[in-house]
Amino acid sequence: MGDNRLSDTSPSSTLVLFVNGEKIIENNPNPEWTLLYFLRFKLRLCGTKEACGEGGCGACTVLQSKFDEATGKIVNVAINACITPLCSTHGTAIITTEGIGSVKKGLHPVQERIAKSHGTQCGFCTPGFVMSMYALLRNNPEPTEQEMEDAFQGNLCRCTGYRPIMQGYKSLCKKSEPSSANGCCGGKGKNGGCCMDGFLNDGETRTEVAETLFDESEFKKYDPKADIIFPPELQLDKSIRKQSLKFDGASVTWIRPSSLEELLKVKQQYPNGKCVGGNTELGIDAKLKQQITEVLIYISDIDELAQIQVSNNSLKIGSAVTLSRLQMFCKEVSSTSKRTCGTALEAITEMLHWFAGQQIRNVATLAGNIITASPISDLNPILMACGAVLTLRSLKDGKRRVKMDESFFPKYRTTVMQPHEILESIEIPLTQENEYVWSVKQARRREDDIAIVNSCMRVVVNPQSLEIEDASLVFGGMASTIKIAKKTSQFLLKKKWSEKTFDIAANELYDEMKLEPSAPGGMVAYRQVLTQSFLTKFFLTASSWMSQKNILSCQQNDKSATSPITQGDTSGVQLYQIVPKTQKVEDLIGRPTVHLSGLKHATGEAVYTDDEIPLQGQLYGALVGSPIAHGKIISIDASKALALPGVVDFLSAKSIPADQNIQGFIIYDEEIFASEYVQSQGQTVGIIVASDPMTAEKASKLVEMKFEELTPILTIDDAVAKESFHTIRKVRAGNIDEAFKNADEILEGEIKMGGQEHFYMELQSCIVTPNEDQEVDILIAAQGPDIVQRHVAKILKIPSNRIKVRCRRIGGSFGGKESRAILVALPTTLAAVKLGKSVRTVMNRWDDMVVTGGRHPYQYSYKVGFTKEGKILGIQAKVYSNGGCSSDASPTVMEKAMMSFEAGYTIPNWDVVGYACKTNLPSNTAFRGYGGPQASFLTENIIDAVAEKVGKSPVEIREMHLKQPHGDKCPLGYIFEDCTVRRCWEECVRGANYHKRKGLVEDFNGKNRWKKRGISATPMKLNVGFHFSPMNQAGALVMIYTDGSVGLNHGGTEMGQGLLTKMAQVANRALGIPIEKIYFTETSTDKVPNATATCGSFSSDLNGMAVLDACQKLVKRLEPFKKSNPNGTWEEWVGAAYFNKVNLSAVGFYDKLDFNYDFDKPNDLTREPHSYTVYGAAVSEVEIDCLTGDHSVLKTDIVIDAGESLNPAVDVGQIEGAFMQGYGLLTMEELLYSPKGLMLTKGPGMYKIPSMGDIPRQFNISMLRGAPNPKAVYSSKGIGEPPLLLASSIFFAIKEAIKAARKEVGLSPSFRLDAPATVEKIRLACEDEKVARVKEGMKGIEGKVGWAMAM
Ligand SMILES: Cc1cc2nc3c(=O)[nH]c(=O)nc-3n(C[C@H](O)[C@H](O)[C@H](O)COP(=O)(O)OP(=O)(O)OC[C@H]3O[C@@H](n4cnc5c(N)ncnc54)[C@H](O)[C@@H]3O)c2cc1C
Ligand code: FES
Ligand code: FES
Repeated sequence: MGDNRLSDTSPSSTLVLFVNGEKIIENNPNPEWTLLYFLRFKLRLCGTKEACGEGGCGACTVLQSKFDEATGKIVNVAINACITPLCSTHGTAIITTEGIGSVKKGLHPVQERIAKSHGTQCGFCTPGFVMSMYALLRNNPEPTEQEMEDAFQGNLCRCTGYRPIMQGYKSLCKKSEPSSANGCCGGKGKNGGCCMDGFLNDGETRTEVAETLFDESEFKKYDPKADIIFPPELQLDKSIRKQSLKFDGASVTWIRPSSLEELLKVKQQYPNGKCVGGNTELGIDAKLKQQITEVLIYISDIDELAQIQVSNNSLKIGSAVTLSRLQMFCKEVSSTSKRTCGTALEAITEMLHWFAGQQIRNVATLAGNIITASPISDLNPILMACGAVLTLRSLKDGKRRVKMDESFFPKYRTTVMQPHEILESIEIPLTQENEYVWSVKQARRREDDIAIVNSCMRVVVNPQSLEIEDASLVFGGMASTIKIAKKTSQFLLKKKWSEKTFDIAANELYDEMKLEPSAPGGMVAYRQVLTQSFLTKFFLTASSWMSQKNILSCQQNDKSATSPITQGDTSGVQLYQIVPKTQKVEDLIGRPTVHLSGLKHATGEAVYTDDEIPLQGQLYGALVGSPIAHGKIISIDASKALALPGVVDFLSAKSIPADQNIQGFIIYDEEIFASEYVQSQGQTVGIIVASDPMTAEKASKLVEMKFEELTPILTIDDAVAKESFHTIRKVRAGNIDEAFKNADEILEGEIKMGGQEHFYMELQSCIVTPNEDQEVDILIAAQGPDIVQRHVAKILKIPSNRIKVRCRRIGGSFGGKESRAILVALPTTLAAVKLGKSVRTVMNRWDDMVVTGGRHPYQYSYKVGFTKEGKILGIQAKVYSNGGCSSDASPTVMEKAMMSFEAGYTIPNWDVVGYACKTNLPSNTAFRGYGGPQASFLTENIIDAVAEKVGKSPVEIREMHLKQPHGDKCPLGYIFEDCTVRRCWEECVRGANYHKRKGLVEDFNGKNRWKKRGISATPMKLNVGFHFSPMNQAGALVMIYTDGSVGLNHGGTEMGQGLLTKMAQVANRALGIPIEKIYFTETSTDKVPNATATCGSFSSDLNGMAVLDACQKLVKRLEPFKKSNPNGTWEEWVGAAYFNKVNLSAVGFYDKLDFNYDFDKPNDLTREPHSYTVYGAAVSEVEIDCLTGDHSVLKTDIVIDAGESLNPAVDVGQIEGAFMQGYGLLTMEELLYSPKGLMLTKGPGMYKIPSMGDIPRQFNISMLRGAPNPKAVYSSKGIGEPPLLLASSIFFAIKEAIKAARKEVGLSPSFRLDAPATVEKIRLACEDEKVARVKEGMKGIEGKVGWAMAM
């Protein structure tokens, strides 16, 4: 590694840091270790989670504190441990959630509040939220609500819908006015008025239905003085901070020079060594792209590079300055400046608000952003437009100053810097009097997303003549480097500032920024429209700034282009039936009981599969997947992988007999290891086993595979052309020919709905341990332990009684760990059994997303016949799903869809044929709603089309077809009873004040040219219960111990949906004992056999009845002892029973549901083939930006029939979480594949689930009162899935807003909008001259193969 002399004194090779107050000394740590790896694997502080490993989810957030010599202050920042090199933590203090509190020793207020406000469901994201909030409070003990929201920009939660997290933490924020910005009083009806009054039924009062779900007054006060202190040693001992360091690893050397001079020497010595700032680029390259840099030179601790200075003319930023410090500095300077708008500093501040999340900004540097040379860098366009100058420096050549223009970036991700040079500082000229700077970024999701296109525009305008004296328009995302629109900028020179000038300039810009159809990044039409739209926005924004200076005047109508999309504070009210006053206090049924693991989620004490303490000698597995979508295997060579120290074995199809190499959910049509052919990308080819997870992962990438590539079938159209189907299902009702004959109008159309990634936070994981007598113990994150047990028994050819499959809790699942858990379980089992050792496998996020499939994409063609009034007489449709390479759940998902097309409506004649297509995508599988959302999407679109045709509002047509409470017939023949869809609808439309607000929306639209609002109402209906009868059974085992404590067991798994909490509540009422006496350890196949997988919103019903049955048996057995000692205690009755040899263990069983439907033998049903139906309705209002396609959900009101809720807090959580997941499905979650069938949207960097900033600003939920469900435990209903369908209210509100934009320019309001309604689709549907220009330019090349295919 060359000469070791870096400075006069030799560098230290000892790393010193503090973790949770404890000093850690690590000699020569491996430079490849991340802080997260060290915390979890070495220190076993498993509260900090890994959910992505790429800085995109915040699950690994910890607090880092350092002493800043210059200010004499301690700097506290939230960071992502997963991309923080351990070596970079030298001389700092790290605090994890374990360090701030525990259930045992007492909780910190940030832990207590998230749990008690019901802000945890699966709990996997919770420690990350806890630490983000903690970091915020360490810097600012009383933040504003906005500051709190900003602190969570980098934290994702897939379960909760964010509202409860926010609401809980608002209690730690500065109190805003009780009415908030949107006039919400929290349902308490101050001054006699409340926006929720409309939701009350006749005779109902607010106090009967509007108790808050938690009591803020119970919360522990936050006392900053009680927080763990910064280690004095780190403050006092300068030498730790100033030390030069060098750590030599097997592949990587880490050097930390202590001064600029030393850095220059090091760089001279190692010209190929890379400077490391925040490591937010380098870390991703190393982890996800396997790009290893041999020498890393850490610069962030060099004082000379950490300076920011402002002079009269410029701002000078040292290359180690972090983005959050830069943001703060620019904000401060701007706030004291006379100029209030249009400056470079404001452009930077605004851009930084949308740059990544707080954790990334806290470590990432401007220098890193520049040198990465990304074509979508957010800051480089600003620097280039403003003429920034860079100071480069080397030992050999000294300093050189370089202007940041196009020549600085000669090609993709390349700069003109010499290898031995470093970037020392960046100088940005300050904005002059008549100069205006504006920046903009458009991404798929507003928060924490990379740009699709970004831009900075700068002009100098003569205030008298309005002549443009200088112009610089710079764009990111339009080429392989950042592009200056030179021609257009030149065109603007000497022109008068006017709308006309900019209209012509838009044309010039279009010519200058053309894209090829196959341009990387895709979305070519949208991107070309965006550049022009940005120009219009810039013109209108800068005009408004000039109008403030009275240089010119602006039209009121145009202001809508200049203001950001409406956001505002968030608020929400939840209405539910409060339990009767006569109910005993200790009876928790119907009360908002906190999730039983909630506190442990927050403190990190909740143990997930990968948190389990490893057994002595445990090995680690990493799956090796196919890199292509379809091909014949020629060779698999693992020799390089096996040569890596620490690698133990490699198993492939050759390691096992063919009859062992099978798997499948219902049909065994998959191989565990591909033997001759690979059928999809990621299909498992083998498993590497190694002594530690990092080596296993590294080695898995060294397995060399050769294939003869075959043409893959990827899309539904490909599959239809080749008649490649898994299954075909039909539903026929009435007489469709007659219906069409009687119809006044017939419409035909096509529509598509994209797939969806589960994006559960906990990755697929399992630990398999072989034992005596062929026993196998499997701890796994699986919804169906029984499915895993059956498979393992089959492939190992051993009886099921030797296989114990256990699951303590799952960090989110949503259907993704039902059948697909076997993908990780079976290869790991084969390895563990072969090696006779415990083996642990945890997938990484990219592999998990590629391999495990998701929600089925759907495509529909339909024909609908209706009357002049809009009454639908019949629907004929062909429905196709993309099932992927194996059948898995595709047939049953299609069956559920076939049973759900009627949505909440009565339509007499149906003829629907469903085809589940077989393609070379990874197999798609179960996903919350299981075909229901795809079915109702078709029907709602047909209703929308009919409404447009007859000139009525879609809401009127929906109302016309809503089911009656009794007597309506379903397409399968049975008659509906107790249908509450109309009740939900009426309460929702009335409570949300739909009709009045529709008028207000129209008013708004009339006054705003560039922003439009839309409001829509949609109903919901989803059946609960399995139409395959044997699945409708459940078992439970309840055991009372002699001390009176109760062991509760059932076959359901806890994945965040609160099942265990609800089951404990059932036992609490049935046994009449406090919930604290009841304990559930884990779901295990050796306690409750043959359990149906936890899915279909049905688990509380099935397991609840089994638990109730067991408890009732026990109560009966205790009855004599209660009678003989009526004033005795529970413990006394239990003791007496024991002494009388009474069996205190009872098995409960539930099998009372007798329904079935076989699509292969269709018959007219007399009763429904499910247990019951859940109904609901939602009204949503949105605002869209017609120039960019951005949108914001202003308000959502939901009314849902949840029966008599077992636990309103859990149910509200399910409603909000499912709704937000449906919102993601219908708006921003888009799966992209390359033309060769390779997934492009891997990880949170590319695939966007909703973040906190996306929730409806006002989000109200009302659970229907007085609607007990006689068919489930304690009159409840299962509502895990149904609310997802209500998100269609947002989709159709967006469609309404687009219609308004189209009508304004004289276009037809009838148009096709496929789901998801992404920013791209919204913008292109708001057709205008810009869209027309691009469409015209693309004529003749529309069909050309693009960069990506949306699935
Ligand atoms: C989750 C996530 C979200 C992100 N979001 C955004 C976003 O919204 N917008 C955006 O533009 N980017 C984004 N990025 C990319 C990245 O964060 C930025 O580019 C960041 O500014 C890089 O800074 P860094 O200090 O972490 O660079 P590092 O990773 O430390 O370094 C990056 C490159 O710069 C070189 N380098 C750094 N400093 C010097 C120096 N002084 N002299 C010479 N070379 C140097 C390094 O050698 C390396 O080649 C995101 C990244 C992640 C992981
Ligand atoms: S695991 Fe670190 S940000 Fe996702
Ligand atoms: S509770 Fe947030 S991801 Fe599950």
